[in-house]
Formats: sequence, structure tokens, C-alpha cells
Amino acid sequence: MPENALDRLTLRDLDVDGKRVLMRVDYNVPLDDEGNVSDDTRLVATLPTIRYLFEKGAAIVLMSHLGRPKGGPDPRASLAPVAKRLERLLRQPVPLAPDCVGEATTAMAAALKPGHLLLLENLRFHPEEEANDPAFAAALAALGDVYVNDAFGTAHRAHASTVGVPERLRPAAAGFLMQKELEYLGRALAEPARPFAAIVGGAKISSKMPVLDHLLGVCDRVLVVGAMMFTFLRAQGFGTGQSLVEEEFVEDARRILARARERGVDVVVPVDARWSNSLDGSQPVTVHAVAALPESGYGVDIGPESESLFVGVLGDCRTVVWNGPMGIFEQPPFAHGTLAIARGLAALARERDAITIVGGGDSAAALEKTGLADRVSHVSTGGGASLEFLEGKVLPGVAALSPRAGAAPPLA
Ligand code: 3PG
Repeated sequence: MPENALDRLTLRDLDVDGKRVLMRVDYNVPLDDEGNVSDDTRLVATLPTIRYLFEKGAAIVLMSHLGRPKGGPDPRASLAPVAKRLERLLRQPVPLAPDCVGEATTAMAAALKPGHLLLLENLRFHPEEEANDPAFAAALAALGDVYVNDAFGTAHRAHASTVGVPERLRPAAAGFLMQKELEYLGRALAEPARPFAAIVGGAKISSKMPVLDHLLGVCDRVLVVGAMMFTFLRAQGFGTGQSLVEEEFVEDARRILARARERGVDVVVPVDARWSNSLDGSQPVTVHAVAALPESGYGVDIGPESESLFVGVLGDCRTVVWNGPMGIFEQPPFAHGTLAIARGLAALARERDAITIVGGGDSAAALEKTGLADRVSHVSTGGGASLEFLEGKVLPGVAALSPRAGAAPPLA
């Protein structure tokens, strides 16, 4: 079973009265053309932890990365727009420190009073963050008395702020968001109500192969969707036109199908596809059975028969994990399949009280577009992190937290 916050200290284990809490958050959020936060889901998701810490008499130093700036400060990756949005959400000032370490920042942190917070400037303005440099981690650790990690989305990164700091600053506990993410995903994998189905999609089968492998060991049904379905269709001997096929993974897809048969897991591949001669939504969309896909053009979505098939396959499931859209949902003409499955999941949660979990990144964005995000049990704030969790990997940011008394030592 993957390591999870249940063996780690959580927020309620801490005494934070009068303390300064150094809190890692994942505010790596999209910005619009004007440089404003265009989706604040990750900010909103940390508010319960922030509010709880304030109630308990703490001051907070928040730290996050934004984007992938290379090697030094880059004004386009400043956390200034995040501070502005957080100020609106919390209805209190959110000062932004000029840097994440250094004298001025240390002085600002030292002056914090309970109920107040400070946001550090982008951690990745220092290459030492990603290198998990010991001196940098120690400088960050000196900014707080207690460490809280609520950055589930970054828990798969072994960086200074996620691993080096909690190794030095104890106690180190999971925040409410981290705890919720690990409980939902951890329980789904460890003790799922059955039948348990996983829907796995996305463009690249190469990045999803380890996930498929791991899920075959825990799921009853696995639905293969998105562009990666074409690699499976090729493995089954079908023509796939110009659709994206990762030739070097055709054999792996065959192996997955054979392993699934051995284990009695149903791998369900679409029976039809929506088809177009361009990927930008400007050309007409046609529907074809997978046995008769045209030689030219691309598969852009699953077809209507597949939608019905999938809704049926999911119909009696008690747990469903969804990672990866059905097709190129960003183009409205190609979003039908994704919408249909999102509706199916919402109905499943409502009518059968099933646990429905949507794992990060594109699937969360797709669900958001359907307006059904609040109808599923849990939408993960982690893209890469939820994927690595579904692969059964230990997340370094979780393993680095203080173990709960009596829990097994970290696996890594
Ligand atoms: C994410 O958005 O997946 C996390 O913030 C991690 O970002 P990274 O892939 O740049 O490390």
C-alpha cells in the first residue's frame, strides 16, 4: 500500500499556539494573458488549513513554486498575482516577501503576529530548491517553528521545500488538503468498495503504462481512453488512420491485455471513435466503428457507442478513479465523450453513493468545464503527484513528514 498521511502527523496533532508555521503549498496555478490567476482551485483548497492554523493562534509563512523558471528570478513567474488573489480570498493582507530566503525575508517572518501570514517569493528562483540543497533547506527551515505540507500537487518532487525542510524542521505534518488527498486516493487503492474501475486516458501511453500496470493489481475493470486507446487498438490488430500511436508501446499494450486476462481484470477499449481530418476542431466530425477506422484523419474522441458501453460498465461500480480525458476535450466538437463520462460519474456518485475520484491535471480541467466538479467525491489538485500515487510510488514529500507514533518507519 502506498505510504500515506495516516502514518504521518496531521494538522490536529500539532500545538501551534503562538508558533510560526512554515507551510508548503502548491500555488503553481495558471495565469491569464494579463498575468492574473485564471484558476484559483489550488488556492481555495488550502484555505481550510490556513483558517485552522489562525484559529489555533499561529502565524503562517507560505512557500510555493510557480512554473519552471530557469536558474534565477523571472518576473513572469513571480507569486505577486497569487498574493493578490489570496488577499481577496482571505480578506486580509498577504504581503509578498522579496525572496524566499535572505535578511529582508527573515525580518518579515520574524515580525509576523498570530493570525497574519507572509507569502515567500517563488522557491524556484533558486536552483537550490530543486537540487534539495542542504544549506538552502536549512535557510528555509529557519523561517518557521513547525512545518506543514499542504502541497499534494508537489509531493512527488524531492525538493528542498518538500523534503530537505521537513527533515530539519520538526514536527512536520500533513495539512488538511494533503490529508484529504491521501485518504481518498489511498483508500481507493488499499480498500476499495467493489467493483472498482479505473478510467485511464491522456495522450501519451508511455507516461500511463506504469499506472496501468499497477491498477491491474487492484482494479476489477480498466477503461482505456484518450489518444492512448489507439495504441491498444493497434495491439488488437485494428487500423488507426493517422491517430497518435506510440509504436514502441504496442507490445506493452499486448502484454497489459494478456496480463489483464490472466488476472480476470476487464480491460475495456472503445468500440467506436469520433474522427476528424484536423485536430483543431475546424473540420467535420464523423463516427466510425473501431473495425472500420478510415485510413486518413485522426481519432479525436470516443464515439457514442463507447459512451453507452462505458456508462454501462461503470453502472454498478462502487469506486471509480478517473485520470485522463476521453479525447481532445479542449476543442468543443471533441468534448462529447468526456462530457458523457463526467455526467455518468456524477450520476454514479449521486444514485449509487459510489466513491468517484478525479485525478488531477487535464481530467480535473475537463470536469471543471462540465460544471460537475462538485458532484464527484473528490477532485485531486495533483496532476503528476496523483499519477505517481496511482503507480503505487511512495511520494517523497509524504515520506519526509514526521511519523505518527507507532507507525512503521518510512519505506524510502
Ligand atoms: C504540478 O502542477 O504538477 C506541480 O505543481 C508540480 O510542478 P512541476 O511538474 O513543475 O514540478
